[in-house]
Amino acid sequence: METIYTILKEEHDQLAELLQQAVADSSKVSFLNIKIRAEPHMMGEEKFVYPRLEETEELRDLIAKAYNEHNEAKTLISEMDAMEERDESWTSKLRELKQSIDHHVKEEESKVFERARNILSQQEAEKLAKQYVEFKRSYMNRVETGKRPI
Ligand SMILES: [Fe+2]
Ligand SMILES: [Fe+2]
Repeated sequence: METIYTILKEEHDQLAELLQQAVADSSKVSFLNIKIRAEPHMMGEEKFVYPRLEETEELRDLIAKAYNEHNEAKTLISEMDAMEERDESWTSKLRELKQSIDHHVKEEESKVFERARNILSQQEAEKLAKQYVEFKRSYMNRVETGKRPI
């Protein structure tokens, strides 16, 4: 069975590709593709992964930093949501968002997940994967049926 690390890493790789594409074409459509994936990803991490890892003293500072980085990305996303691609600062905001997410993902993979592997059992990492996947499925269903996600 898949672990939470594999699932999140796959989504990170997909996000990295979309960010690259968005910076290349600078379009709002490309941005919205990022938004629709990044939002539930961060939500799921905050709902299932971070609270479990925060229980470990050694990870508390790292997780606090991760929350801050999520908030930074969320702020940039909501600012860009209200903008148009012809706006003067669109390109620089998009670059800022790419930098912000790329940095966070790197920290998450190289520090947070690395340490989590020593803390969570294989079974627990699989259970988190299951919870995360179920959460995302119901989130996407709600988006598709036009209901408020949460
Ligand atoms: Fe994250
Ligand atoms: Fe992540």
